[in-house]
Amino acid sequence: MNKPLGQHETIIPREHLDFGLDETIPKYWFRSDAYKTRVFDAVQSGFPDGERYFITSVRAFRDRIADPALLQEVRDFMRQEGQHGLAHTRYNSMLERQGMPMGEILKEGKDEFDRWTNNYSAEFNVAHTAALEHFTATMAFAYFAKASVMEGADHRIKALFAWHAIEEMEHKSVAFDVMEKTAKVGYFKRALAMLLAMKNMIRYTYRYTDRMLAADGFTRAQRIALHIRNFLWLHGPRKGIYGSLTGKLFVYFKPGFHPTQEPTIHNYRNWLETWDRTHDPFAACDALCAAAYR
Ligand SMILES: [Fe+2]
Ligand SMILES: [Fe+2]
Repeated sequence: MNKPLGQHETIIPREHLDFGLDETIPKYWFRSDAYKTRVFDAVQSGFPDGERYFITSVRAFRDRIADPALLQEVRDFMRQEGQHGLAHTRYNSMLERQGMPMGEILKEGKDEFDRWTNNYSAEFNVAHTAALEHFTATMAFAYFAKASVMEGADHRIKALFAWHAIEEMEHKSVAFDVMEKTAKVGYFKRALAMLLAMKNMIRYTYRYTDRMLAADGFTRAQRIALHIRNFLWLHGPRKGIYGSLTGKLFVYFKPGFHPTQEPTIHNYRNWLETWDRTHDPFAACDALCAAAYR
């Protein structure tokens, strides 16, 4: 079978979306499953500070961008990431009200992002950003290519993830283009930054999932048992949420790789057409899920 051609979508900032993230969302909103819910909660908790870091890293090169089309993309990328940060800040407030130690978790995360900004070169930070953006660009595939992955999720959180995942796919090449065309980062630094990004993603996922489960009252032994029992759900090579993406992630190490070589998710148009018609992120998410593979 021929690999579908890669695509570059238009970046459309969509602002002031309200997903109704409040106390009516069940604490364990994903299939009433504490572990799986906390994995999603933990991964998303880093988004507001992560996205501020991405913006800072790209902004460092803004004045040196000569191509007006790329400059416009940078502006739209920043507007999208700014909105994601706001939405996930509301999500983190909801977790705080559930008793999650968000002050502590967010402070640790922010300190780490600040450490990178202050101690690494601007070139390395934009390379690290491009690598992390490659992760977020695969989020749509992880969550929404197959209908089964998000089945049993609360519809409000599912709609938030769908909107975010779609926009990550739209701006997937912006940080990469700034890294290559403006910062002139070469292959070695790009690959090294991806290794660091991979290590950080795994560390962040486990550290904060574990911290949240501890706040929920699970003992250390119970948490270890949960990590083991759910290992294949996350890392299984065929069906694991992240494991099934290994190929999509490792393609980043190919010399000559560019994000637009990768196809857009097959059901993107279903989300987009419904959004354009209704401006309703819930209806757009339903269309995305209805067109997902069974
Ligand atoms: Fe984002
Ligand atoms: Fe992004």
